[in-house]
Amino acid sequence: LETDTPDKLAKIIEGCCALGITSFDHADIYGGGEAETHFGAALHASGLARDEIQLISKCGIQPMGENYPGNRVKHYDSSPAHIVRSIDRSLKALGTEYLDLLLLHRPDPLMQAEETARALERSMQAGKVRAVGVSNFSPSQFALLERFIPLATNQIECSLMHLDPLEDGTLDQAQNIGFRPMIWSPLGGGQLFAPEEERGRRVTEVLHQLGQRYDEQPSVIALAWLLAMPSRPLPILGSGRLDRLRTYCRAGDLSLSRQDWFILYEASRGYPVA
Ligand SMILES: NC(=O)c1ccc[n+]([C@@H]2O[C@H](COP(=O)([O-])OP(=O)(O)OC[C@H]3O[C@@H](n4cnc5c(N)ncnc54)[C@H](OP(=O)(O)O)[C@@H]3O)[C@@H](O)[C@H]2O)c1
Repeated sequence: LETDTPDKLAKIIEGCCALGITSFDHADIYGGGEAETHFGAALHASGLARDEIQLISKCGIQPMGENYPGNRVKHYDSSPAHIVRSIDRSLKALGTEYLDLLLLHRPDPLMQAEETARALERSMQAGKVRAVGVSNFSPSQFALLERFIPLATNQIECSLMHLDPLEDGTLDQAQNIGFRPMIWSPLGGGQLFAPEEERGRRVTEVLHQLGQRYDEQPSVIALAWLLAMPSRPLPILGSGRLDRLRTYCRAGDLSLSRQDWFILYEASRGYPVA
């Protein structure tokens, strides 16, 4: 998408909104730090008003590379100074006065939780950020920061190719506290469509079988499997193709039977539940 012209990208953004997909997930580092600028230009070129969409961004990863000349090692930075710098940069790039949601991109082993929380709080008080959350945090890392500031979500990887959150307490915590987890790579980052190893092949085969039975696309079955979970996950769809996004939207209306849900779970695990 970064190679699209603003007008072409604007059409995709408008197309998403017409489908009811109005939240757009960003990070200060996406596209080598350029993605937000491209999106901002496209948003400007579109006919959309700011309050018709929600903008999410993330901060805290300090990559290596030509756009980050000061970095001698890839690292995380949850310090107040970095958070403020990153938010200001994202706001400028996106051409907006506020982010609907800011996430700390990765848990930082050097995070001073209270200090970080205060910086996030000040960003909200300044009107630059409407809500804050985290991404890729374990339940204990989430609980630590949540002691000092309410967190709107934990954005995590979860799919039929990645079951950890079902088994390590992450989704239990979401249901317990009552936040809806955001799910990245809900279709395994595309692995479900070109499986390279055994697990992917097992899952894909079952997705196709169920697809025939439910008269639906395998991708829709895979998303319905995620949506069936009681923490009410919010998948972040990675496709840039409107035809695919339109298809995925049908997952909201598809209810898998409990046994079919477990058939997929078993295919992913590779063995039955105890
Ligand atoms: N917080 C984090 O640490 C983190 C990490 C990674 C990602 N994210 C966020 O999560 C978003 C989604 O992640 P993702 O892109 O990995 O999600 P995904 O939806 O699981 O995977 C998208 C990929 O699957 C391909 N695909 C989808 N449907 C297909 C089909 N029917 N046949 C063949 N290929 C198909 C897409 O290709 P096409 O584009 O050609 O359709 C695209 O390459 C990212 O954009 C990012 O915003 C967050």
